Amino acid sequence: MAQQIEKVGVLGGGLMGHGIAQVAAEAGYQVVLREVDEATLAKGVAKIEKQLARAVEKGKSTQEDADAVRGRIFGTAHYRELADCDLVIEAITESLPLKLEMWREVDEIVKPEAVFATNTSSLAVIDQAAVTGRPERFVGLHYFNPAQVMKLVEVVRCVTTSQEAFDTALEFARSQGKLAIPTKDKAGFIVNRLLVPYLLDAIRAYEEGVGSVDEIDEAMKAGAGHPMGPLTLADFVGLDTLGSICDVLFEEFRERRFARPPMLRKMLAAGWFGRKSGMGFYDYSGDAPQPNPAF
Ligand SMILES: NC(=O)c1ccc[n+]([C@@H]2O[C@H](COP(=O)([O-])OP(=O)(O)OC[C@H]3O[C@@H](n4cnc5c(N)ncnc54)[C@H](O)[C@@H]3O)[C@@H](O)[C@H]2O)c1
Repeated sequence: MAQQIEKVGVLGGGLMGHGIAQVAAEAGYQVVLREVDEATLAKGVAKIEKQLARAVEKGKSTQEDADAVRGRIFGTAHYRELADCDLVIEAITESLPLKLEMWREVDEIVKPEAVFATNTSSLAVIDQAAVTGRPERFVGLHYFNPAQVMKLVEVVRCVTTSQEAFDTALEFARSQGKLAIPTKDKAGFIVNRLLVPYLLDAIRAYEEGVGSVDEIDEAMKAGAGHPMGPLTLADFVGLDTLGSICDVLFEEFRERRFARPPMLRKMLAAGWFGRKSGMGFYDYSGDAPQPNPAF
């Protein structure tokens, strides 16, 4: 039987965390959003406010509803505000050491009956569950970017997850209007196991001169019916996050298809993280994205 969820903690207000917080508040949950400091928190909250304002402008929501959603989100830079949450979802940087350090602190503070969830794209759920004192109450809740729009949530059961915690996570995802698909705790779950090699292959195709950045993207849109080309999608995911995901998958499976292409490494060294940093395969400084002029 699923546990009752009223208050949801979200750790990280970046690309994914702000969206997860917004979706939970839109479904009627009280949300505590924790970021590392006030300045970073303000950026995450501003993104939510912008999305809510846009929905009102487009007539998809009323001002009253948007205000109510905003009113259900409480931002903080302190872990202690998460103490009475029924469910805590982490969407912090894709780094196992950082996630473990965070869970050790959060586990001490949050009430013992609360369920913990990770939004990791690639790390094994069990590795995070095992550092908490509640491995049976630990699941994966893997949202897709942007969380406000994408229908799927992969609900991941690790070896220690209890039926009750798993049912709680499934029901929570469905209560937000999501399609909840159960998956096993195998690195990359379903979608990234298939999608990441494709994105990396697009980077390798560009490296090998098969086509230009926009030719590769336009070809996949027109030829495969994809809504977005792979290099645009890589920028959208975040090249740093893509790099971390492929490293984890490579470490796990030792297959070339998951190996980080040299070009990705060099782009990250240059500080080009994709759309979020303003530069990736495309330059986002103008009105419309243009292929990176350095290429
Ligand atoms: N980018 C994607 O398309 C995508 C999709 C699904 C899942 N994910 C996963 O979601 C997670 C977050 O990815 P993202 O793309 O949002 O990254 P991001 O870099 O945009 O955001 C991460 C945020 O976490 C914050 N943070 C770091 N440590 C923290 C802590 N201890 N407490 C609170 N906040 C902390 C950072 O300040 C940053 O704002 C990763 O595990 C990633 O694999 C990403």
